[in-house]
Amino acid sequence: MGVAPREKWNSQAGFVMAAVGSAVGLGNMWRFSYLAAEHGGAAFVALYLVFTLFVGIPVLLAEFALGRGAGRSPIPALDHFGGPGWRWLGWLFVLSGFLILAYYGVIAGWTLRYAVAGLVGFSDDSGGFFAAVSTGAPAVAWQLGFMVLTAVVVIGGIRRGIERVALVLMPALFVLLVVLALYAVTLEGSGAGYRQYLNMDFAEIFDREVVVQAAGQAFFSLSLGMGAMLTFASYLDRGHDLKRESVVVAGADFGVAFLAGLVVFPLIFAFGLQDDVGESSVGALFITLPRAFSEMGAAGSVLGVLFFLGLAVGALTSAVSLLEVVVSSAIDQLGWSRVRATVVLAALTAVLGIPAALDTDWLGLMDQVAGNLFLVFGGLMLALLVGWRMADPIGVAQEGAASSSWLSAWRWLLRFAVPPILALVLLGSLGATWDAVTGFFGG
Ligand code: PHE
Repeated sequence: MGVAPREKWNSQAGFVMAAVGSAVGLGNMWRFSYLAAEHGGAAFVALYLVFTLFVGIPVLLAEFALGRGAGRSPIPALDHFGGPGWRWLGWLFVLSGFLILAYYGVIAGWTLRYAVAGLVGFSDDSGGFFAAVSTGAPAVAWQLGFMVLTAVVVIGGIRRGIERVALVLMPALFVLLVVLALYAVTLEGSGAGYRQYLNMDFAEIFDREVVVQAAGQAFFSLSLGMGAMLTFASYLDRGHDLKRESVVVAGADFGVAFLAGLVVFPLIFAFGLQDDVGESSVGALFITLPRAFSEMGAAGSVLGVLFFLGLAVGALTSAVSLLEVVVSSAIDQLGWSRVRATVVLAALTAVLGIPAALDTDWLGLMDQVAGNLFLVFGGLMLALLVGWRMADPIGVAQEGAASSSWLSAWRWLLRFAVPPILALVLLGSLGATWDAVTGFFGG
């Protein structure tokens, strides 16, 4: 058969940037800042860091190893290493990709709209503005616009689309955040923000809800548990040091989240808006922060536009990786062309997202189910597959790199530490999901 050879990344830096681009997104800014604000600042951050180091990095390396080793999309890759009995997990990954991208595109649409609106200055009635942005036809229109952007990049393919965009946009986003964080230092009254962000409330560390959300956040933020990193790694050559690359990607992801906190908290506190944040998942970023920008006057306009553009950029490179899971699966399973797969599946995802565009409570529910529960479950299954079922995971992970005792520790973690931890987290997540479902349908 005349099957075209599978595309490959152009350079090592290109792959790493694309993986960082997948990891860094709304998760680092929108999700991270509201969870940190809600769950005791530094206690949440510390737990999230622990999960990133001891659960996130091992599962990330597992996805990299599976992807590169099989050189195929998730369903055949899981079949290759686990046997046909593991194919369903690949289907679950595809489903997660659909569901997460469906609501992710909605929030990304808001960020685009905010960036454009900020050009003429942010309104001081930011609650009213958010209500207008997040309901009705405008919300759907901006979501669709964002999905079109995502589809254009994915149609470009690995080298000409995803890699090129990540290589330009990721460094730009990082520089932008550093500038904003430095600016925040100069604001009078920002000190209280740092204190809230960096002060530890130890009691929170033992709270079930905080633990569940910190673990879920580590998965969401690193794009784990649904085959995005696996799929990206399937376009790799041999000769990559995957363990190093997984540490670099996780480090960059944590760094950007931490940096985003150093922007959001001081800004909110400098303008005395902390009581405004409230309990909602959208409050900090989409209501309180724009008010801070509006109080800053002209400078706030410029900073706010840059901030929301940066968010949109992060969202784009993440959305691309979500869509790539679904698209690469259609290419492998159905034999579709890249263009056809992208157009059809992006359209389908956009339609699936419309209810979330019209109702932020529904959006929150989708995030709890697909963005937390499914990812934690997927991570648990991946750890079991690589830790217990695969014959020689160390050999597969190490191909092309020097052997090291680090990889034995990795395998040990995947066997004995990650599964029990994730099983516990999964129980907690089931509880949180149950609460979310009954809350949604009950009231
Ligand atoms: N990691 C992305 C973010 O932080 C979201 C994402 C989740 C992307 C799962 C791909 C897969 O925004």
